[in-house]
Amino acid sequence: MQEKIIDFLRRKQDYASGEEISHRLGISRQALWKHIQELKEAGYDIAAVPHLGYRMICAPDRLFPAEISSRLNTKFIGRKIYYFDSVSSTMDIAMQLGLKNSTEGTLVLTESQTKGRGRLGREWFSPRYKGIYLSLILKPKILLNQAPVLTLMASVSICEAIKEIAALEAQIKWPNDILIHQKKLGGILTEINAEMDGIRFIVIGIGLNVNNDKKALINGATSLKEQKKEGINRIELLQEILRAIEKNYLTFQEKGAQSIIDKWRDYNITLGKRVKVYSHKEHIEGQAVDIDIDGGLLLRTDSGLVQKVTAGDVVH
Ligand code: BTN
Repeated sequence: MQEKIIDFLRRKQDYASGEEISHRLGISRQALWKHIQELKEAGYDIAAVPHLGYRMICAPDRLFPAEISSRLNTKFIGRKIYYFDSVSSTMDIAMQLGLKNSTEGTLVLTESQTKGRGRLGREWFSPRYKGIYLSLILKPKILLNQAPVLTLMASVSICEAIKEIAALEAQIKWPNDILIHQKKLGGILTEINAEMDGIRFIVIGIGLNVNNDKKALINGATSLKEQKKEGINRIELLQEILRAIEKNYLTFQEKGAQSIIDKWRDYNITLGKRVKVYSHKEHIEGQAVDIDIDGGLLLRTDSGLVQKVTAGDVVH
């Protein structure tokens, strides 16, 4: 109901009497008053003037589920949201929810993480109210070896959303580092629960630096705010990411991996470059010639052999 009240007041852009809101939303005046008090406690600035009614002055910069759900228009991605002010890692919560058979598209969203995880055992710096930190449960009907394509799908979706909302051109370093001007803006971590007969569920974790100030960023990192020189509406960006993921995910399931890989190529900055790929203690060096249908990177080494790499850290 709070979602509907927020939506109503936003659209109105003026005072709406308690009677009008109650009537339009089918709730009692008393229930409306209670919801308004709760919204105020959550940080909404709502003016209440006798004889005029309620008016939304401004909303807090929070990723409240009611805000995200309002005008989201997806069929299943982000329709069920678990929201936290702080958690250790959204990955842990989403993996637990997956085990409890949560529906596909369930979203775990937080304003900060105390133990945010990055790829290859790294930490993901997750300061409060600055970024987007989420984990999404998917249940694709694909073979296990195609799972990395879902990570590529997520990276493409993020770039599309950034272009749409912030009008910035983000790029992808294989497999899924999101960069702007060679600095890291975001990343994706995928965890899989599989059995002998296939994938049970996949959790896609996304971390994105949005409104971090330049001085608060770690070395080699950037944020949309730094690049754009102005803050970005995290709600609009998150909604657009969810929309893009749903669209690309459905395309992947209908048309196959090639549809995603073709889009990924447009954003990637790895192919055609001479790279070193570090995984564990080893590294392979060569020319990044292509990616295969499972999302693996094909490297032509100095011996002329083409080798497939499935995981690692690329240095251009
Ligand atoms: C990377 O190393 O590039 C991947 C970073 C992924 C970070 C996100 S933040 C939300 C989710 N929860 C985590 O603990 N990690 C992922």
